Amino acid sequence: MCGIVGYIGQNNAIPVVIEGLQRLEYRGYDSCGIALLNVTGINLEKVTGKVNKLQGALAQQQTSSPVAIGHTRWATHGPPTVDNAHPHVSQDGKVALVHNGIIENYKILRDELENSGYEFSSDTDTEVVVALISQAYHGNLESAVREALSHVIGAYGLAIIHADEPEKIVCTRKGAPLIMAVGENEYFVASDVAAILKYSKDVIYLDNEEIGVLTPDGIKTYSSDENQIAKKIHKITFNLEEVEKGGFEHFMLKEIFSQPQTIHDAMRGRLLPEEGNAHLGGLNHMIGSILHADQRYFTACGTSWHAALIGEMMFEQFARLPSEVEYASEFRYREPLVDTKSIVFAISQSGETADTLAAIQEAKNRDATVLGICNVVGSSIARETEAGVYIHAGPEIGVASTKAFTSQVTVLSLLTLKLARLMGMSDADGLEIAQAMQRLPEDVEWLLKQADQIAEIAKLYADASNFLYLGRGVNFPVALEGALKLKEISYIHAEGYPAAEMKHGPIALIDRSMPIVAIAPQDKTYDKIISNIEEVKARHGRVIALATQGDTRIKDVADHVLYVPPALSFTAPILNVIPLQLLSYYIAVERGCNVDQPRNLAKSVTVE
Ligand code: F6R
Repeated sequence: MCGIVGYIGQNNAIPVVIEGLQRLEYRGYDSCGIALLNVTGINLEKVTGKVNKLQGALAQQQTSSPVAIGHTRWATHGPPTVDNAHPHVSQDGKVALVHNGIIENYKILRDELENSGYEFSSDTDTEVVVALISQAYHGNLESAVREALSHVIGAYGLAIIHADEPEKIVCTRKGAPLIMAVGENEYFVASDVAAILKYSKDVIYLDNEEIGVLTPDGIKTYSSDENQIAKKIHKITFNLEEVEKGGFEHFMLKEIFSQPQTIHDAMRGRLLPEEGNAHLGGLNHMIGSILHADQRYFTACGTSWHAALIGEMMFEQFARLPSEVEYASEFRYREPLVDTKSIVFAISQSGETADTLAAIQEAKNRDATVLGICNVVGSSIARETEAGVYIHAGPEIGVASTKAFTSQVTVLSLLTLKLARLMGMSDADGLEIAQAMQRLPEDVEWLLKQADQIAEIAKLYADASNFLYLGRGVNFPVALEGALKLKEISYIHAEGYPAAEMKHGPIALIDRSMPIVAIAPQDKTYDKIISNIEEVKARHGRVIALATQGDTRIKDVADHVLYVPPALSFTAPILNVIPLQLLSYYIAVERGCNVDQPRNLAKSVTVE
């Protein structure tokens, strides 16, 4: 949730670290700081607020340094103040570190350290790690880090410097992301590749509890038992443009508009339109286990959980394979009925969500086979799962997930198609579905052309305080996703409901001030949804309907109609979510909200 960047090399570290932090601001943005290291010791600068402010403060100092570590924070322990901002420095001023994650036993450690006379200057859990390293230091930073962390319970990505070793950054991770990268006589550490992509595409992924040591001469990596190990250098395949706005006002808008391409990328080489089938290389050897498993679970959080709900419905409806969905945060604690005959799909854009990682661990402890559906290559979830599929959506920077959702659903659709064919779906049905999937990029392109109309509608509803989203079948998770998008970025309270459930309670809320978004495709529940819309109108509610292109009847009941190309229930969720993403976006813009960095949120929730 926080961002870490560190640099060591022949150039001035400050602009590299500042720029890296700016690229990581989507991960946390309530305060930030940098620690510079040179022969005169550690020089610290911290501010509340954004990295621009930190940049301004450093410009006044006119200083430079070949070594620096920086951090942008999303507060967990202690409010966003300068004292609580990272880097944290030891009492003797010699150790500085930045931390991403949570130290679970910090209270006990802090009490012990205070009893021994150590004085803390922040409310954070992180500061105990600085104190422990400082106490364990006897001339070698990596040894001190190893010794200090043997007392720590929790999750961490850490970059650490010591004034007595001015040509060294030590880094390590456990349960929180951290990579190292190799440049031309310069080396980097970061919590996210985006931070350093401008300088290097050669990345080393640290595994849990490994220690990386960066010096001007190179990078060395050690296992937790102190042995030096050789690590593979991975080539990053995406480009700098993918982490830039590219002329769009916000990353979220860019990502919404990139969906024709990202959906195409998720299907590339996998959809077999001529055969009415799909091929997923990463799961090929697992298909038999998926078909014959006693239980199939999907586990995920937030938007990815909505994709999981769609996956479950598709597995059951088309492949006739019973499945269940569980919030990752609940999975772990409900003694799930999984065992060696179970398959658990973990779905995650970032691949770093702590709740999902904990659910994976729980499933593994119970000997289940865990498969991943992930976006970020080399992420913790990608590495913790036995096999899986990458969704290939490219970096998602907007905090509210958009393109990752449609790519997740695309991959789940491909998997369903593959399984359904093996379970007896006819050639004709397979071909119809595969051809509808092939048309998706073009249909999404068509939907994006409605953006101006949606922006006009958004103006009429931007002052609402509550919204209700209604949908049925596979469109119920879409209603949930529409509501989540709206609340995240516009701070309007919104709820998603199965349309027919409205009359069992929420109808009490309906009046002119509560807009309803009704997903009303011309499928088998169409007449029922029309009745629901009429029930809303009878109570003076205002309705924005999503309807199938060519549907004229709906105009008589809804206040506004957003048309969607005709779709099978297989492809409907991907198409229907696009206007809802745009509606949330334009409402948030109309309300003057910070769309890409909504309050209290951060991309990638690496704490449980
Ligand atoms: C919503 C959103 C979050 C994430 C959730 C899971 O727009 O982005 O709800 O979907 O935190 O994140 P991942 O998919 O990275 O595991």
